[in-house]
Amino acid sequence: MKRVAEKVVVVTGGARGIGRACCLRLAEEGAAVAVTDMLDDEGRAVADEIAEAGGRGDYWHLDVTDESEWERVLTDVSSHYGGVDGLVNNAGVAGINKSTENIALADWEHVMNVNINGVFLGTKHAIPRIRERHGGSIVNLSSIYGIIGAGDVPPYHASKGAVRLMTKNDAIAYAREGIRINSVHPGYIWTPLVEGLGRRLGYDADGFQQELGGRHPVGHVGEPDDIAWGIVYLISDESKFMTGSELVIDGGYTAW
Ligand SMILES: NC(=O)c1ccc[n+]([C@@H]2O[C@H](COP(=O)([O-])OP(=O)(O)OC[C@H]3O[C@@H](n4cnc5c(N)ncnc54)[C@H](O)[C@@H]3O)[C@@H](O)[C@H]2O)c1
Repeated sequence: MKRVAEKVVVVTGGARGIGRACCLRLAEEGAAVAVTDMLDDEGRAVADEIAEAGGRGDYWHLDVTDESEWERVLTDVSSHYGGVDGLVNNAGVAGINKSTENIALADWEHVMNVNINGVFLGTKHAIPRIRERHGGSIVNLSSIYGIIGAGDVPPYHASKGAVRLMTKNDAIAYAREGIRINSVHPGYIWTPLVEGLGRRLGYDADGFQQELGGRHPVGHVGEPDDIAWGIVYLISDESKFMTGSELVIDGGYTAW
């Protein structure tokens, strides 16, 4: 029996990076996966890759900051697959990397809009669907930067700290309905988000990987599958006694 057989899971930001790995691994373990993103070509390619491997996956365009799109997509996914059992609130942006006194309000709000409002809207609209199935699992992508400070990307830290506590509060509120909600806290994972951050700081890819690797006790950065397998666990019934928890997958970053 595959680990998430017969579950229907919606993944946001599924076209690239951690979200893409998550879609592929969930499908491999038997889930029907709704790959969603704003990058339509890359998102469709992930759904095609799932189908080519013999899994079930389709692509939907979804900007997580748009409430009407959430309503439309969850209605479509639900009628296409017969319900929704899980949601991975993965879409996120790194945002502006300046000291707090130099950040324009609009740049601050952009990060809050995607990283916090996106999680709020997804949770709000997925809960009634998951309730129809008498329970399920929501996974929110926070970060090591939702646990400790690093002195950079102030709005990102604020947004990921908020996601951590939104997760715990919603976990308590919905626990008796069998709806589990947990957060995942990756260390640095080599994805387009991190590559872009390095470019903006003037590093080449190798130099940035080395610099970041040194910040982790294991001596290197992680790869998207390191996080995807944790998410498969949280979506699966293997984690049925786990809610309101923070799954830290960080190569020891927060253990220093
Ligand atoms: N990569 C890391 O080191 C790392 C570490 C900790 C946490 N995270 C978190 O993991 C998640 C995924 O990160 P990643 O590194 O794979 O990022 P990424 O930039 O590689 O991929 C993010 C995906 O989200 C999509 N996206 C962005 N804004 C969106 C929106 N408004 N609506 C829908 N989709 C949108 C992008 O198109 C992209 O496909 C993010 O929440 C990020 O904060 C990443």
